[in-house]
Amino acid sequence: MKFFIDTADVAEIRDLAATGLVDGVTTNPSLIRKSGRDFIEVIGEICEAVPGPVSAEVAATTLDGMLAEAARLVPIAPNVTIKVPLTWDGLKATKRLSQDGVKVNVTLCFSAAQALLAAKAGAAFISPFVGRLDDIGQEGLGLIADICQIYSQYETITTEVLVASVRSPVHVIEAAKMGADVATLPPAVLRQLVQHPLTDKGLAAFLADWEATGQRIV
Ligand code: E4P
Repeated sequence: MKFFIDTADVAEIRDLAATGLVDGVTTNPSLIRKSGRDFIEVIGEICEAVPGPVSAEVAATTLDGMLAEAARLVPIAPNVTIKVPLTWDGLKATKRLSQDGVKVNVTLCFSAAQALLAAKAGAAFISPFVGRLDDIGQEGLGLIADICQIYSQYETITTEVLVASVRSPVHVIEAAKMGADVATLPPAVLRQLVQHPLTDKGLAAFLADWEATGQRIV
């Protein structure tokens, strides 16, 4: 499973990218607002920090508007992925951009039917929002299972399932069991993945015993 980071905080991205475990980044208008920074500048810096796909979301809602914004965003760096909403115009933009060789991430997906349309339009990624479905009492992970199952029926579908709106390591693990291609993680969730109290306890015991031997390796 690939791990993307879901943030527009460049310092945080650089820090996590240093682990070598970050495969890409997703941003959205809310995350850009939170960063308090210029959109184009931030996307450029993120693209330099992480070699993998970096999603930059259009703000336009019409086909022409989306294409015009994509034309401004694509030249920023070769790893820019254009993020469009799951609307008819977004799907039309996906078709046009993917035909031109631009990678598109179709966002705000809340149903398997929407995911099928995005694949048909040529999306490189489909972003089903797990946490936001959980928030309204629906099973977000159930949607991931449905999409993974449906996509696996068709060899012609190359769209990657990008699990979004992730709130906990449980979302990540369950989605991985289903074979989801990517999870985009808030930095805090990525940091949580490494944690286990028995690891901390075990390491403390090993270090104490090692100290007692009085030996050194180097
Ligand atoms: C995905 O690309 C979105 O940016 C993100 O996962 C949305 O998550 P949220 O529901 O926590 O805002």
